[in-house]
Amino acid sequence: MKSRSVYICEECGASSPRWAGKCPDCGAWNSMEEQPAPSKSATNAARRAASGSVIAPTATPIPLNDVTTTEQPRISTGIGELDRVLGGGMVRGSVVLLGGEPGIGKSTLLLQALGRMASSLGNVLYVSGEESLRQMKLRADRLSIDTDALLLLCETSVEAILHHAERQNPAVLVIDSIQTTTVNTLESAPGGVAQIRESAATLIRHAKATDTPIFLVGHVTKEGSLAGPKVLEHMVDTVVYFEGDDQHAYRLVRATKNRYGSTNELSVFEMTGEGLRPVENPSELFLSQRSTGTPGSVVVCAVEGTRPLLLELQALVIASQFNTPTRVAEGIDRNRLSLLIAVLEKRGGMGFGNADVFVNVTGGVELSEPSADLGVIAAMASSHRDTPIDPKTVIIGEVGLGGEVRPVSRLDRRLIEAAKLGFERAIIPSRQMDAARSVRKEIAGLKPVGVSNIHEALVALFA
Ligand code: TYD
Ligand code: MG
Repeated sequence: MKSRSVYICEECGASSPRWAGKCPDCGAWNSMEEQPAPSKSATNAARRAASGSVIAPTATPIPLNDVTTTEQPRISTGIGELDRVLGGGMVRGSVVLLGGEPGIGKSTLLLQALGRMASSLGNVLYVSGEESLRQMKLRADRLSIDTDALLLLCETSVEAILHHAERQNPAVLVIDSIQTTTVNTLESAPGGVAQIRESAATLIRHAKATDTPIFLVGHVTKEGSLAGPKVLEHMVDTVVYFEGDDQHAYRLVRATKNRYGSTNELSVFEMTGEGLRPVENPSELFLSQRSTGTPGSVVVCAVEGTRPLLLELQALVIASQFNTPTRVAEGIDRNRLSLLIAVLEKRGGMGFGNADVFVNVTGGVELSEPSADLGVIAAMASSHRDTPIDPKTVIIGEVGLGGEVRPVSRLDRRLIEAAKLGFERAIIPSRQMDAARSVRKEIAGLKPVGVSNIHEALVALFA
């Protein structure tokens, strides 16, 4: 009998019965790989795990008010900033996916966390399919981890991993990485979507059945998707990403999905010779290397999760050498930059048709909310006019297509953070002057200036 096969996209995990040059789902080229069709029972198991369902088949409906809601006890990872990202620590039986580019510090962070957890919780198990015991030991030495409760295992077979996990019953399990694991029931190569999905499903079932929290390490490709399994994001409880790059010593750790807490909670770490060190006051750090007095440099205040973060944003506007001007955005969305350039041209009366525009958020931070819009506009205007902006001014506001300055969330927290760091003036949306007045005691020394459109903002900044 001819064995059935399916074609699975290595980028997004979409499956199709036929081969295609371009994935019908995510549009990636040449990403469809032939895989043996999984057995019925395996597919069903994967589906059950994917839905996060742990409900026994005998479960019966319960009236809403009879459901007990005792707060899920949290297990501290021993690293406060990691706990914060997870929403206060790990939840029993939950599965956390830790994604990031190779070399960014995933193994380091988890080994540090497990070292601390071993001291407080007893046996913990670190499974590596990528490094030898010797390499792990050397790393542990470097991180000054010295405990017998931290168990190391070099293994890639999920069945073998679970065999040991059942015998040792560790308080926490780390799988580094999910791309190296395989299940015996599938013949396809490790690292493929089918293997990743099936391995993760099996591990998730183990987590739910035994109440063991699990960290899955996942490598991310250059394009930003987890190599292959976007699917994993739907299967696990929490997705945490490492951002930043080799150029910066800073590593940003951010939750993008969390069934047990708020998302977009952000922590900052610094890579040192002795592992990752949490940064207690990131705003101070990001502003410490600021180029004050340079045209094109402004300070904005983003709120990532619940934490306000002051950042330097730089723009460089120069005459273009080519017919098609260059637009480069680092740390903000490129389409957003195009939009803001258009608004500044139309409503601010500045021409950028023959200008190259570069915008950069320092520290390697990716801004995910629009409150920096007005800062981008101001930075571009400052560079265009070759006039610096007062370094003691912070700029806060979303900008609409009509050039109007729109309110932002949590203005009070942003202002308090700016005041704490010694800023003297804040350009804010005029509609939020009341909100600013309500915290005037906390922000003594910081003068809010309300503006209703970008024209008023530019007048306030350059008058
Ligand atoms: P690693 O945790 O191995 O990355 P990942 O698991 O995400 O692939 O981090 C590797 C980098 O971090 C490597 O370039 C060496 C560096 N590093 C330090 O600078 N200090 C340290 O204490 C450690 C353990 C690693
Ligand atoms: Mg690693």
